[in-house]
Amino acid sequence: MRLLTFTLIGLLCWFVPPPAFAEDDPDYAAMIDDDGKDFAYLVCSDCHAMQHVLQKRYSRRGWRDAMKRMTHDFGMAELEAEETVLILDYLVKHYSPGSGR
Ligand code: HEC
Repeated sequence: MRLLTFTLIGLLCWFVPPPAFAEDDPDYAAMIDDDGKDFAYLVCSDCHAMQHVLQKRYSRRGWRDAMKRMTHDFGMAELEAEETVLILDYLVKHYSPGSGR
């Protein structure tokens, strides 16, 4: 019985293709590693390439406004306050006029 189970699991692993991990996406790979990266990618790359976001250099206020535009003009789901802060912190730290990039 154990052998059969192992064989079945083995067959399943063989046939089920691996999920497309974000790591395979060059758009994700181009992002600076830090807290909030994964979540920002998850939320913001839903409608456009992340590059579309990361080529911008906004202040904290600018990013906050941009996120409001996404929600109000383009139908992005309303985020929890902590979620907004997580993305904001990430973007401001690495993609603002003073971030040196
Ligand atoms: C529901 C779809 C949607 C989601 C989710 C979304 N966007 Fe957008 N975004 C758009 C559309 C539509 C445009 C305008 C068309 C364009 O510029 O290509 C845009 C444009 C932008 C721009 C360039 C124009 C501008 O206003 O500066 C930035 C920056 C941006 N988005 C940032 C973000 C960030 C940050 C997130 C995640 C918090 C995000 N977007 C999530 C739809 C979305």
